[in-house]
Amino acid sequence: SAPAVPSAPVVPAVSSARPASRSMRALREEHGRLRDGIAAGNGEAVARQHGLGKRTARERLDLLLDEGSFVEVDMYRRHRAHGLRMERQRPYTDGVVAGSGTIHGRRVFVYAQDFTVFGGSLGEAHALKIQKVMDLAIATGSPFIGLNDSGGARIQEGVMSLNGYGGIFQRNVQASGVIPQISVVLGPCAGGAAYSTALADFTFMAGENAQLYLTGPDVVEVVTGQRVTHAQLGGAQVHGTRSGVATFVHDDEESCLAEVRYLVSMLPGNNQEPPPRYPARGATDDPRPRLAEIVPVEPNKPYDMRLVIAELVDDGDFLELHQGWAPNVICALARIDGEVVGLVGNQPMVLAGVLDVAASQKAARFVRFCDAFGIPLVTLVDVPGFLPGTDQEYAGVIRHGAKLLYAYCEATVPRVQVIVRKAYGGAYIVMDSRSIGTDLSLAWPTNEIAVMGAEGAVNVVYRKDLAAAADPTALRAELLGRYVEELVHPYYAAERGLVDDVIDPVETRSAVARGLAMLRDKRRAGARRKHGNVPL
Ligand code: HXC
Repeated sequence: SAPAVPSAPVVPAVSSARPASRSMRALREEHGRLRDGIAAGNGEAVARQHGLGKRTARERLDLLLDEGSFVEVDMYRRHRAHGLRMERQRPYTDGVVAGSGTIHGRRVFVYAQDFTVFGGSLGEAHALKIQKVMDLAIATGSPFIGLNDSGGARIQEGVMSLNGYGGIFQRNVQASGVIPQISVVLGPCAGGAAYSTALADFTFMAGENAQLYLTGPDVVEVVTGQRVTHAQLGGAQVHGTRSGVATFVHDDEESCLAEVRYLVSMLPGNNQEPPPRYPARGATDDPRPRLAEIVPVEPNKPYDMRLVIAELVDDGDFLELHQGWAPNVICALARIDGEVVGLVGNQPMVLAGVLDVAASQKAARFVRFCDAFGIPLVTLVDVPGFLPGTDQEYAGVIRHGAKLLYAYCEATVPRVQVIVRKAYGGAYIVMDSRSIGTDLSLAWPTNEIAVMGAEGAVNVVYRKDLAAAADPTALRAELLGRYVEELVHPYYAAERGLVDDVIDPVETRSAVARGLAMLRDKRRAGARRKHGNVPL
């Protein structure tokens, strides 16, 4: 049997034992003391949490939810584990605060892990609490938000902890595409726990305390000999820029939780309800002269596509996903004329806006999210093609590019394509072209759609003529001119119905808004099948 070593108290000094007196007053007072004690937590551990620059679970919920809206469930829940001195420590809440509240008046379900109790580790009772609120979120069709700060599977509860994770993952998957799922990492999130964040639709990470990895630095050193810090292995910067695991990265908990609120304001509660509509802000029909200045006519001159987006959306306000990962493509949520839209845009400022492995993954997942939750897609095209080379081919650019292709082909939400400048080759097809089902294709007069750029095209088609020419330079110049004149302008595609309208750039906001209004009642049932086989 275990030696009788006294352990540090991790329970507030309160007891649920019935008082001797059974008067209503005494019972109520005892009840009040118990609740207050549980809510206050262990002062020493709370001070340690604050010392690390972290808020407690309840403080975080206060920041996340509308004031006074939190309804807690399972406050009195405790573990039933035996052995390893567990009988001695049976703190209420079991290390997670769970329940429901509102964000801007709309219902959400939440849990916040409490690192001051067993390091926020997940045992059987802890897991059952999370599963309970997940079930309620699914049943009521409300977004589900998890605030993670945990040492992972509770070692003392062995397989019951692992079983608890499994039940959460199973629910994550059942809820996928049904309710929005948001994972927020505010402390350690190690081991299998990391998978719950990967299964969510959005992952936030905040500050230096956020650590997300499958195996910690100690194990890494033992197995591989490599020495890394927590931050190098799974800090917010790493996941925000290199792995793409974090959708949003913040310096502090406050701005992070404020942005979770902003995100929720743009999402429907579930896949059966439309995203929240807001009154239109700003005159939608007013021309936007800046648009004609932002985009250079020369096809290879860089510019910032974010400036174009800011001109198109209400209040110039948009929420960019994965800002630091695959920045050659932009994915953002915003409103146009009060209606939530998902924007996908090539970014000519980074790698000339090519599509590559990471950009394809990023955009594909975003397109699928928007489609699952009825958010119309607006695609801003200015793409020279897919990034060539062995690095990309070996990394499976074909497989990953196919994800984006698949995502667009499958999407049944209203889809508006705006071809801002160039659209070459396979990348033209992939970026929501007419052939893969866009509903409305708008092109600027600057637009070039072609199989390839003029130089490449002339080299291939006229190789023999150029080799035999007396003056190849003069012939090349003439052929280039002819190619551009005949093929490289939007009217070639518009004549053939592949572009629905060639628009004045300054009218883009109103043209997109009118297009979205036209498509608002779009209905198209998906194919009857169990599920497709998306190239994962
Ligand atoms: C039980 C745990 C715990 C755990 C931490 N604690 N992790 N208790 N099970 N997994 C307890 C500690 O014993 C300590 O209790 C308190 O929480 C605070 O922990 P500290 O170590 O003092 O905190 P800190 O120095 O900040 O370090 C945090 C940490 C470290 C980096 C998270 O605790 C750690 O490495 N924990 C183990 C992480 C891990 O390997 N988890 C298992 C992952 S595998 P006292 O009583 O002293 O305050 C996994 C499999 C899931 O999760 C698979 C699902 C499919």
